Amino acid sequence: MKSAGEVLDAIGRVPLAELPTPLQEAPRLARHLCLSRLLLKRDDATGLAMGGNKARKLEYDFAPILQRGCDVVVTVGGAQSNHAVMTAAAARRLGIDVKLVLGGPDFTRFRGNLLLDSLYGAELRYLVDDDDNDSLAAAMDAWVRELEEEGRRPYALPIGGSTGAGALGYVRAMRELASQLGEGPVQVVTAVGSCGTFAGLNLGARLFLPSARVVGISVSRTTVRIVERTIELVAESAGLLGIEPPPLAGSLECHDRFHGEYGVATDSGTEAILACARLEGVLLDPIYTGKSMAGLFALARDGSLDPSVPVVFLHTGGLPILFAFDEESWASSPVTRIPLRAPEEK
Ligand SMILES: Cc1ncc(COP(=O)(O)O)c(C=O)c1O
Repeated sequence: MKSAGEVLDAIGRVPLAELPTPLQEAPRLARHLCLSRLLLKRDDATGLAMGGNKARKLEYDFAPILQRGCDVVVTVGGAQSNHAVMTAAAARRLGIDVKLVLGGPDFTRFRGNLLLDSLYGAELRYLVDDDDNDSLAAAMDAWVRELEEEGRRPYALPIGGSTGAGALGYVRAMRELASQLGEGPVQVVTAVGSCGTFAGLNLGARLFLPSARVVGISVSRTTVRIVERTIELVAESAGLLGIEPPPLAGSLECHDRFHGEYGVATDSGTEAILACARLEGVLLDPIYTGKSMAGLFALARDGSLDPSVPVVFLHTGGLPILFAFDEESWASSPVTRIPLRAPEEK
C-alpha cells in the first residue's frame, strides 16, 4: 500500500511556486521576545506575483483547470485580495484568461493588489461596500453562467483558494518544513483567513511532523467558525489522500483576539511590522502577517508559547498591501531636508 506521502506526490499539481522556500533564523527578534529560537518560513518568497501562501494552494487548484481545458478562471476576494492577484498571476503564467469579483469599500485609486490585478489584465466586477462571502460567491456564479452562455469554458475558484485540494499545498509545506528542521518539538504560528493554510498545516503535522504544535492567528473569523471550516477542509484533503481524517476537534489551536476590524491596521500589528523591519529587515503587511506576528508577540509575552521550544513563523506574504496604506503613520522616518544651494555658494 502507498504511503500518504506517495499518494500526495501522485496527485495532480501544476508547479507555480519556487520551492523549498527559505527557513531563516531571526535571532534579534527571538531575543526581543525572550524566545530561545525563532525562525521565519519565507513563503513570501514563493515567487508567484509578489509571493505568498496562495502559490502553494494554487498549484493544486489549477490542476483541474488545465485537465478540463478551461479557458478562463473566475475567483473572488476583498479589494486587496492576495488570492485574487495570485490567481491572476497563475492564470497568465498558464495562458488562461482571468475575471475577478472583488468587494468592499469603494476605491478611487488602483493601489496595492488592485494595481497588480490591472497589470495582469484581469477584468474586474466590484461589489461596492459589500465583501460578504455569499454575495461574492453569487456574483461569481452569475458571471460563470454568462461566460458559459458565450461559449467559454470557465472555472470558478472559491474564496482564498481554500479547497481540500488547495490545502494539500500546506500538507506538502509541512513535509518540507520537517525536512528543513529535522525531528523535535516546534511551534508553528500562521495567519488564518479562509483556513486552507491552517487545515493543510494541521494535517501535514499529523503526517510528517507529529511533534509540531500548530498555532493559528485569525485575521477575520471567530475561532468557532475556523474550527468548523478547518475540520471540513481536513476531511476533504484526507479523502484525497485516501486516509481517515485525524480527530482534530478539541485539539485545533486558533486565537481570534488579534484581528481587530478586517482590512484595518491595528496598533499591535503596526508594532510587529516595525519590529520585524528594524530588527530583521523583514517586511510584513498590515492585514495578515502584521496581525499574525502581533499574535505571536502576545503569546510569547504572556507565556502561551513555550520559550524553550523553537517557534517558526510562517510568513504568508501579502506585501503589496503595504502600498495600499501609504498614508499610514509608520511612514514617518526622520527626514532632514537639505535645501538646494544658492548659485553663488557653488
Ligand atoms: C497574506 C496572507 N496570509 C494569510 C492568509 C490566510 O490564509 P488562508 O486563507 O489559507 O487561511 C491569506 C489569505 O487570505 C493571505 O493573503
